[in-house]
Amino acid sequence: MAQPVIVADQLSEKQSEYMQLIAEIMEIRKRGEKPLAYIRTYGCQQNVADSEKIKGMLVKSGFDFVDAPDDADFILFNTCAVREHAEDRVFGNVGALKNLKRKHPQILIALCGCMMEQEHIAKRIYNSFPFVGLVFGTHSLHHFPELMYNSLVNGKRIFERGNDDNKLYEGIPVRRDGVFKGWLPIMYGCNNFCTYCIVPYVRGRERSREKGVILSEAREMIHSGYKDITLLGQNVNSYGKTLSEPVSFASLLSEIDSIEGDYWLRFMTSHPKDCSRELIDTIALGTHISKHLHLPFQSGSDRILKLMNRHYDRKKYMETIEYAKKQIDGVSLTSDIIVGFPGETYEDFKETLSLIREVAFTSLFTFIYSPRVGTPAASMDDPISAEEKGEWFRELLAVQEEIAAKRCSSMVGSTERVLVEEVKEKTGELNARTSGNIIVELTGDKSLTGTFQNVKITQARNWILKGEII
Ligand code: SAH
Ligand code: SF4
Ligand code: F3S
Repeated sequence: MAQPVIVADQLSEKQSEYMQLIAEIMEIRKRGEKPLAYIRTYGCQQNVADSEKIKGMLVKSGFDFVDAPDDADFILFNTCAVREHAEDRVFGNVGALKNLKRKHPQILIALCGCMMEQEHIAKRIYNSFPFVGLVFGTHSLHHFPELMYNSLVNGKRIFERGNDDNKLYEGIPVRRDGVFKGWLPIMYGCNNFCTYCIVPYVRGRERSREKGVILSEAREMIHSGYKDITLLGQNVNSYGKTLSEPVSFASLLSEIDSIEGDYWLRFMTSHPKDCSRELIDTIALGTHISKHLHLPFQSGSDRILKLMNRHYDRKKYMETIEYAKKQIDGVSLTSDIIVGFPGETYEDFKETLSLIREVAFTSLFTFIYSPRVGTPAASMDDPISAEEKGEWFRELLAVQEEIAAKRCSSMVGSTERVLVEEVKEKTGELNARTSGNIIVELTGDKSLTGTFQNVKITQARNWILKGEII
């Protein structure tokens, strides 16, 4: 595949001018008061990271942020297309903005993200939601200031979907949501075309960022106090293949790991078809790399894996898992599963159940199959009813609950290093997380938020642990 064209400085210069112009327009409109933006993000961490870029551009355009849409001058929903449920939520919540726009005609309502790269969705927004003034897809993120400026000046509706797959945009400002937990995208897009999945269509082809850019961003995050950094990509194992000097993901990970500091390094998502032994060895030997592997297997049945176009079978998956268990002491394994893929039988589903029993995952993200327009699976025969799929799904959850509870109770009495993440409003307790991504509830002062603590695990309640700071 050809190397992506990197667009950096010249882009940010032009967009910076638009940000300045937006600030001037808003200054006049608001008579010197700060303009306010409400940003709502749906979907995965890629979208969260994209929203952090949008927020970065808005900060440079003079904006502050609010937690509710009512007082905002600019409202943006960054949308997800991965399942029908995600899309329905967006449509519901956008519909609810109609009255707000009627009350305050000056506000600009915008939609962006994965859903907007689909033509049928953009058409539906155009026809049914006339109060939405700006729509742009994932490929247009880099020139959001220009789109917003045009929208403010012309007052005309702007709809843009792009497809410049071979470009990679650097130099976009970022305003991170967290101060000790942060996302670091290392690549964009996906080339895998799993037959059920919309992501390659809405995010385009795989593009890796240069290693040097990633390393300096990682250094900057570590030096400014980030304690938990997650490298992001749809399939991190293929990182670096298209760079002028190809780099493996394992070597990128180990170079970041060698940066000094007190932090955890995580990554997602790893694809089982090319999760290498080199990667597992790197995790095992790492200083900061968390002993956690998120390895989505989707289905335990070889027949279904083939129909899904996943390029591995159960045997290969289990070999990787066995190797990880052997090399990484106390490894925490998590996965994604789809229940009710077209043509899946109860026999196939039982293979999924037996696989989760065999591996004993710490936790699972489980989904009922949702047909996506334009994907191959959407036109496959799907004779099983929604009710039946629902029953299988509940059976899966029950089995996993039992496994997770067992794993958690086996940890009682052990000592764990945790990162304290937040204070729970209701109880005043602290929520912390282990390197293996398990939640531990603690009592302690809120000033401990954002610090590492050693805790003794005293109790296990289902899949949540309770602990005491040592
Ligand atoms: N790139 C990642 C996952 C991206 S989407 C990977 O390959 O693992 C996150 C999860 O959503 C997938 O792992 C899958 O389990 C689920 N998913 C994707 N498309 C889906 C669909 N059409 N219906 C139900 N679940 C889906
Ligand atoms: Fe979707 Fe498959 Fe790509 Fe993951 S690897 S984003 S499931 S196509
Ligand atoms: Fe993520 Fe949803 Fe897009 S899962 S990549 S935000 S379709």
